[in-house]
Amino acid sequence: MRLPFLFVTKGWKTFHRLQQNHFLSPVPRLWSTDVRCGSTQQCKEDKVYYVTTPIFYVNASPHLGHLYSAVIADCSHRYKRLQGFNSRFATGTDEHGLKIQQAAEAAGKDPLTFCTDVSERFKHLFGSCNISHTDYIRTTEKRHRQAVEHFWTVLWNKGLIYKGSYEGFYSTQDESFLMPSQVGDALDSSGKEIKISLESGHKVEWMKEENYMFRLSAFRSQLLDWLKANPGAIQPERFHQAVLRWLQEDLPDLSVSRQRSRLQWGIPVPGDAEQTIYVWLDALVNYLTVAGYPDRHDQWWHAVHHIIGKDILKFHAIYWPAFLLGAGLPLPEVIHVHSHWTVGGKKMSKSLGNVIDPFEHSQMFTTDGMRYFLLRQGVPDSDCDYTENKVVKLLNAELADSLGGLLNRCTAPALNPAQVYPSFCSQFFPSELGGKAVMEDYHMLDAVKSLPAVVEKHYESMHVYKALEAITACIRQTNGFVQRHTPWKLDRRDDEDQRWLDTIICVSLECLRIYGTLLQPVVPEISNKLLTRLGVRPEERSWEALDFLPRFRGMDCPFEGRALGSDSGVLLSRLGSQNVDKEKTKKTKSVHSK
Ligand code: MSP
Repeated sequence: MRLPFLFVTKGWKTFHRLQQNHFLSPVPRLWSTDVRCGSTQQCKEDKVYYVTTPIFYVNASPHLGHLYSAVIADCSHRYKRLQGFNSRFATGTDEHGLKIQQAAEAAGKDPLTFCTDVSERFKHLFGSCNISHTDYIRTTEKRHRQAVEHFWTVLWNKGLIYKGSYEGFYSTQDESFLMPSQVGDALDSSGKEIKISLESGHKVEWMKEENYMFRLSAFRSQLLDWLKANPGAIQPERFHQAVLRWLQEDLPDLSVSRQRSRLQWGIPVPGDAEQTIYVWLDALVNYLTVAGYPDRHDQWWHAVHHIIGKDILKFHAIYWPAFLLGAGLPLPEVIHVHSHWTVGGKKMSKSLGNVIDPFEHSQMFTTDGMRYFLLRQGVPDSDCDYTENKVVKLLNAELADSLGGLLNRCTAPALNPAQVYPSFCSQFFPSELGGKAVMEDYHMLDAVKSLPAVVEKHYESMHVYKALEAITACIRQTNGFVQRHTPWKLDRRDDEDQRWLDTIICVSLECLRIYGTLLQPVVPEISNKLLTRLGVRPEERSWEALDFLPRFRGMDCPFEGRALGSDSGVLLSRLGSQNVDKEKTKKTKSVHSK
């Protein structure tokens, strides 16, 4: 039977559309031309990317949720680099404000020493989890203070800031002003009646102050126009819709300073030493500071993508764009929003004692294990619950058994005594059915061939879990392929059997090369181990190198005949309760010895 061919001559988007159609086909369609994923023709200068995480408050130590924001951004940055982009990735710490001032007081430290200590902890966490940021910013740095002062002065000179009187609710914990409709009643731990933010549950207080106001109300229609003209500006869609709804409600002017007598720990308002700049205005400008503002910053600024948690959407999708519009600066390309991790169905909190320490857990499950779990299970649209049991099950099934098992099988000296990348023989795998390969094998080749385009689409929209789902499904198919043809039963003294065995192993190693390359943004260490074992050189690991099984199309394969790399052990050791127990014992010991 002749298998239909799919001719592809355009870019990957066309290719992907065609591929989607082809899944509807009962017969697998095979590629016939060299399809490169990614826009390789684009000139280098166009390929600029700038991704940011929120800057983290230093009032407490890092927790799992913070690591999650950083891992998403890191994955995106690594992916863009694989695609040949000049990518910049900024993270850092948010160090001003009443909340930090109070935390430093409670710790009996001067605020800067306190901030430095906690900021170092974040840096250390990111270092230990392979977060490859290019910039680390602290809002207490001089360059940032200069950027904020400049930004403020631009808004002031445009008449967008005026002196007024603010009266309303304020949550110090969220550093946020609230409308009466956003406030509810509750009892504190001593049974006293208090007011809380309905959204965060944090205590709010009534405040009345003379301070500076920003003309936020003047920006409603421009914000609506921006969101309507750019339906992908806030992703996923449900958050875009939420912002559109908020903009239908009241949008009062925003207080952007506090009296110095109440808040000393912050940047003074230029020209008014009695007032301190509101911490959110100060913090948001960090994204510009890193880009070089107020000096040349446009190269990076036009390509900025923010990654944020759902709790800080209002600040990024309303206040920040309004400030930028006011200052005459371009708006972010995309604001990517993610949901939260809960523990036992509840928000992580010190008082509930359910805060997950990302250091401890990445030691328990390895750094790559933790990264994989967060990105495989984290869904941008809805909250996810974290349990150790889920981590163990997922990592064992997908990384240790499925991926690790496939690599072990296909590189085992028993099957591959010469330890080389063996040759493909088209006699067994012709472009038409009739060799030893069966229909499922053609389906598998087809799925792996189109995998880079599928993964690209999901990495682009930050639906990393969907990319990992697709990769996992292909790994399963490759394991099925090996299992189906039982290469260990073939007689290596027989020439035909030997060539068929080589073909099976060659196809499997080609699959593994594709998986290893695509997984680099998620699990950099495991991918490196895998690709090194296959003998794939560093310059052969980019998106452009994702040319799967060229020999099937009669093209040369640069890997065939090449020696495999050294065996540095399993990709991920199977995890069991002993991993969890060992770390817990270590932790208890270190707590006791303090
Ligand atoms: N300092 C502000 C951000 C200023 S950006 C100009 C802030 N800091 S934060 O430390 O409270 O939060 C930083 C990020 O961590 C936010 O994106 C927040 O959504 C995220 N997370 C905090 N708890 C989280 C979970 N439980 N789960 C996932 N992410 C969570 O807000």
